Amino acid sequence: MSLHSIAWRQDALEVLDQTRLPHEVRVLRLRGWREVVQAIREMRVRGAPAIGAAGAYALALAAREAAEEADAFEARVQQAAEEIRRARPTAVNLHWAVERLLRCLDPRRDPRANAEALLREAHRILEEDLEANRRLSLLGAAHIRPGERILTLCNTGALATAGIGTALGILRAAHASGKGIHVYVCETRPVLQGARLTAWELLQEGIPFHLLPDAAAGWLIARGMVDRVIVGADRIAANGDVANKIGTYTLAVLSRHHGVPFWVAAPRTTVDLATPSGAAIPIESRDPREVTHVGGIPVAPEGTPVLNDAFDVTPAKLITAIVTDAGIALPPYEESLRRLVQTPKPLEV
Ligand code: MRU
Repeated sequence: MSLHSIAWRQDALEVLDQTRLPHEVRVLRLRGWREVVQAIREMRVRGAPAIGAAGAYALALAAREAAEEADAFEARVQQAAEEIRRARPTAVNLHWAVERLLRCLDPRRDPRANAEALLREAHRILEEDLEANRRLSLLGAAHIRPGERILTLCNTGALATAGIGTALGILRAAHASGKGIHVYVCETRPVLQGARLTAWELLQEGIPFHLLPDAAAGWLIARGMVDRVIVGADRIAANGDVANKIGTYTLAVLSRHHGVPFWVAAPRTTVDLATPSGAAIPIESRDPREVTHVGGIPVAPEGTPVLNDAFDVTPAKLITAIVTDAGIALPPYEESLRRLVQTPKPLEV
């Protein structure tokens, strides 16, 4: 698989511009940390694990810049960290990556050496995500039965991560092992990550699928056409409540009503034990133009008031299982998630 959402090359962060897909494959070379923050805000790079890694590189770039100044290295880095965290508030991976880098600062080292240490840590975050994708995808795929028809939402693939993806990684691994799965992809309004990005990835992999309007999911599930729903996550609270792309909660309610297993797939970096429940997860509200316009073309009358929460929270009680790189968490999630997050070295898969 040659697709990379982000990569560090020749002293710059390369980002595959996801706002251009599927029509144009354009790689941006970002040399300044503020450019990276802007790319995260504008969703040129998106998906919780990918923005975590991009945020880490943003802070490493900020540290490099700060190291060239005469004074206040640490204060400059802390200020950049605050701005990076704010770029997208729901995905905990961004906060987690920034905190992890800040912990690498060592007052005994000079600023340049600290900046290089931060860059090395950013590389490690990217590599670890790749491996976490592989593990959770194989773990999840092992439980998929031959011929399953699986519904998914948004984009949780290579574009959203450093590796093969999370929910989409499971679908990739199940397809690769000859399970003969069929995928249903919700288009994912307002910015159409399902239609633009997941369809693009599935076509490239030759995985059989249909794209459907978000509103068609209930009808499909009601007719018995879905054996399992698998989605990703932006933040998993300690009690197992999951923040993910708007529409996830709707799919969870539908799944419960019709007795369809509802899985969440995420690396352990998305589990936030410091957030007790979904009620404490900050939900990002985005630009109304994402709803009033499609591909830059207005579809609502000018002046239309809009609600545009980018994420919703699915209560743990609606989730059948949470697939992580260290194993599959089952209810009660307080116990199972804590155990998996604290596993030092996950099982070999
Ligand atoms: O707004 P986005 O496109 O960044 O939202 C992405 C999602 O909701 C994904 O499901 C989640 O980040 C997991 S990606 C592996």
